[in-house]
Amino acid sequence: MKELIKSRRTIRKFLQKPISCEQLAEYIDLARVAPSGANLQPLKYIAVQSKDMADKMFPLVKWAGYLAPDYNPKENERPTAYIVVCADTDIRKTGYDMDVGASVENIILSALADGVGACWMVAIDRDEIRKLLDIPIEYEIPCLVALGYPKESPKEVGIATDIKYYLEGETLCVPKRNMEAILIKTV
Ligand SMILES: Cc1cc2nc3c(=O)[nH]c(=O)nc-3n(C[C@H](O)[C@H](O)[C@H](O)COP(=O)(O)O)c2cc1C
Repeated sequence: MKELIKSRRTIRKFLQKPISCEQLAEYIDLARVAPSGANLQPLKYIAVQSKDMADKMFPLVKWAGYLAPDYNPKENERPTAYIVVCADTDIRKTGYDMDVGASVENIILSALADGVGACWMVAIDRDEIRKLLDIPIEYEIPCLVALGYPKESPKEVGIATDIKYYLEGETLCVPKRNMEAILIKTV
């Protein structure tokens, strides 16, 4: 588990090898048991698995803001599946953001355990996604996870000057603050 957490990097370039409905259902089942404030469990999910729907989702998400549009996935590098996270406002109107974080991290790490890469996405066209997937108005759409077998191997690097990720040849370098910078104190 610790190795998985340490090795995880956001993946934005994918092999065109499909992910099965069973795999997606398993990741959602593992999101289902994530911690939830007051155990209200307002989150629900839509699994997008068909090639047709994945193709329609692609223009509705925005990739790697610091490197766009050059680093956008090419036609043969697109995600093969998506899990759209919905918050049922009939169950909880606001304040479900931390539930979303816990649930998405469960999805990302479950997928990684199968060798499947993921990109957590908040820069998404919610209105068009709602139309495409026929999502009822009482469901908010906080984010989604794009999924697929990785076709890149981004790496963690130290911060030289900036937190912006950058390309070194074909390798995406992701600067992370070190322990000294983030551990305020141990008392
Ligand atoms: C809340 C959240 C929203 C994100 N939204 C996007 C997004 O819309 N598009 C994208 O390409 N990456 C998105 N990312 C991925 C981040 O850019 C990525 O996590 C960050 O650069 C650090 O890289 P790492 O995940 O490899 O550690 C998002 C990540 C988080 C946690």
